[in-house]
Amino acid sequence: MDATQLRRAIARTPLAPVAAFPKRLARVARHDAKVLRISARWLVTSREHHNYTYELTKLSRHHLAWFVSVVCDRPVQQVRGWLDEIESDQALRQHIERATAGAARRGLADKHVHYARRVGWYAIVRATRPAHVVETGVDKGLGTCVLASALLRNAQEGHPGRVTSLDINPEAGYLAASEPWSEVVDLVIGDSIASIGALDRPVDLFLHDSDHSRAHEKREFDAVEPKLAPGAILLTDNVTSTNVLAEHAERTGRRFLAYRESPANHWYPGDGIGVAW
Ligand SMILES: C[S@@+](CC[C@H](N)C(=O)[O-])C[C@H]1O[C@@H](n2cnc3c(N)ncnc32)[C@H](O)[C@@H]1O
Repeated sequence: MDATQLRRAIARTPLAPVAAFPKRLARVARHDAKVLRISARWLVTSREHHNYTYELTKLSRHHLAWFVSVVCDRPVQQVRGWLDEIESDQALRQHIERATAGAARRGLADKHVHYARRVGWYAIVRATRPAHVVETGVDKGLGTCVLASALLRNAQEGHPGRVTSLDINPEAGYLAASEPWSEVVDLVIGDSIASIGALDRPVDLFLHDSDHSRAHEKREFDAVEPKLAPGAILLTDNVTSTNVLAEHAERTGRRFLAYRESPANHWYPGDGIGVAW
């Protein structure tokens, strides 16, 4: 009996779990050691305490390009072009790095810019050319800058648009307070539900990224529904935690898809983009 035949014979006996234990232990230990290594490095090198930033893995970026291509019905090569466009926008990158270095809360922010799934938001804005984007939850304003950047490029091509960004924290949005990005940003401070209720222009693209409780996410989608322009697109940053947008899509007769991002070299498992259209 050779080794393979012996292994197969043991696999059919009650001894199988005991025989498999060392291999299982080695696998999980290798995985956990990698997470521990990455976590320890992050504790020393990063300053972020929430809303973590990172790059996507190469594979995750490929999947994001296809996700946007399917949702927006645009060729995947064109979507890849938009991902390259935001990633190679040196003016935006330098602005964010400078504004971060000069911010009062710089002790809780990383020096280098990592957009993660926000490059997907950029590509969706480039593909759909919305006149009015609404983003709930601004934090430092990284996503607002990305959205504003896409709107500025659209405007250069004859399709102007603005983003209304809503946050309850009066200190939010400092990254998006400089020109040219601020030229297309309307920052509104207050609870997002009240601010959505006060919107006086139809919304073409809505992004939930504020209070990520299930109840609040649902309240936002319910509140924005009567404000939407025909054919509006709804996005959620909360798709790895709740099914709220999928349920909203089903109730309102829309399609739904979810993309789950994979951070490169980060302990955080990542968020995603949920879309209803
Ligand atoms: C995850 S951060 C937003 C991240 C941002 N979109 C980005 O791209 O980096 C969540 C933000 O939601 C805000 N927030 C929490 N509850 C809110 C509410 N009820 N109304 C408006 N904003 C709220 C917080 O102040 C925080 O800045």
